[in-house]
Amino acid sequence: MTTMNPTVLLTGASSGIGRELAITFAKNGHPLVLIARTELPLRQLATELNQKYGVPVEVFSCDLSTPEAASKVYDFCNDNGLQIDILVNNAGVGDYGLFYEMDLEKQCRMIQLNVMTLTSLTHLFLPAMLVRQRGYVLQVASIASVLPGPWMAVYYATKAYVLHFSEAIANELKGTGVSITCLCPGGTATNFFQEANAGKSAFLKNANLMPAAVVAEFGYKALMSRKTVAIPGWVNYCMVNSVRFFPRNIVTRVSQQLSRPVQ
Ligand SMILES: NC(=O)c1ccc[n+]([C@@H]2O[C@H](COP(=O)([O-])OP(=O)(O)OC[C@H]3O[C@@H](n4cnc5c(N)ncnc54)[C@H](OP(=O)(O)O)[C@@H]3O)[C@@H](O)[C@H]2O)c1
Repeated sequence: MTTMNPTVLLTGASSGIGRELAITFAKNGHPLVLIARTELPLRQLATELNQKYGVPVEVFSCDLSTPEAASKVYDFCNDNGLQIDILVNNAGVGDYGLFYEMDLEKQCRMIQLNVMTLTSLTHLFLPAMLVRQRGYVLQVASIASVLPGPWMAVYYATKAYVLHFSEAIANELKGTGVSITCLCPGGTATNFFQEANAGKSAFLKNANLMPAAVVAEFGYKALMSRKTVAIPGWVNYCMVNSVRFFPRNIVTRVSQQLSRPVQ
């Protein structure tokens, strides 16, 4: 008798790191449930993965920046008899600008997506994993999670939440058969900066962006080996681990320099 590979629920699967994660999971024989707002790219990806790798792929189009989104996703899985053993909270957005000049509603939707829905999905799917004593959660944070981020203040703060939340729960889950991995990518070549209107950021002008496929492969391996924090790339690794040795005001000033708008 062959045991079916664990089924993956993956948010933000229509582009960037999420799309590459979907490909990586499919290559490794995992059935998938793909979530994002835009249905067409999800359906095209589902067909491609099913034909190429022979894995079943379900699609659910949903705006995860609304308070009821997490329970809609949970109901969709239950209604379709989908047992989720791997939850990947990847969907996330940024927004570039000075906090006091930005649209508050947009910032609140970002918090809803990056923080609230991620928390709710984790809370909804963990109990059944614990009963089965089998499960993996991958939270996509960022290297932004370790420092304050002038020009993207709310985004950086949401990612700090994701890192601290994940590390705390990873500790609570020890010995249960369920683990949480927090992936902290640095600059990655996706639609993220364009969607965040961050084209003028000094960081983007100088960054050596990592291919999304490399980040996804790294995240998959870290998840499967149940690592708690995973930082792809040695420059990112050094940055994340060096900030603790400097005074916070210096770290914030360097962060401001990296994100300031340049022509
Ligand atoms: N790119 C980087 O440099 C970088 C660095 C560190 C961390 N990250 C993190 O990586 C994750 C993935 O981002 P990415 O770089 O791959 O960007 P991306 O290419 O823009 O992908 C974002 C994904 O999230 C989905 N999404 C956005 N808003 C949504 C909503 N309201 N409801 C449901 N799905 C939504 C998008 O699909 P739809 O638009 O179809 O909904 C898309 O599939 C994010 O959490 C981001 O913070 C990115």
